[in-house]
Amino acid sequence: MVDRRVRHNPRSPAVLLEAALLRLLLLSCTVGLVACSHGPRWEEEDIGASPGEIEAGQRMAAEQCGTCHAVARDTQSPMRNAPPFSYLGRNYPISSLAEALAEGMITGHDGMPEWELEPAEIRGLLGYIQSVQDP
Ligand code: HEC
Repeated sequence: MVDRRVRHNPRSPAVLLEAALLRLLLLSCTVGLVACSHGPRWEEEDIGASPGEIEAGQRMAAEQCGTCHAVARDTQSPMRNAPPFSYLGRNYPISSLAEALAEGMITGHDGMPEWELEPAEIRGLLGYIQSVQDP
């Protein structure tokens, strides 16, 4: 008969081995995800930008961000350490940038002048950035 106390004793070698294997498995999954996945790994929240707002967002990105960032897909950033906009969705949902933009957290980076963005401008900018994400 199986002694359940032994099976559930966290210090038993079998349980420790099992935990170590599980951790290894989880780690390799995580590494695999990071290394192999392209494009968003989560559900994007709907940004709800209208086509006109996205067009304005594209203009704004080209004029205000394009001096440093690769704004269009498949281009290189003029400033080496500025992430191409098409990569941003790999690290977080694009929709999650809305708050940071509204609060000036991103607009103040790396010597960029801070300016206030209207909600419609943020929708357009993010709608555009979302449209250039790598598939
Ligand atoms: C003067 C150069 C410059 C301009 C102009 C610029 N950026 Fe950046 N941006 C950078 C650099 C460099 C980084 C990477 C280092 C950092 O995060 O501060 C960056 C990072 C970012 C990030 C990633 C932040 C993160 O933590 O993942 C976002 C999003 C971003 N910029 C958005 C914008 C937007 C939107 C505009 C235009 C409205 C813009 N940037 C204009 C230089 C610039």
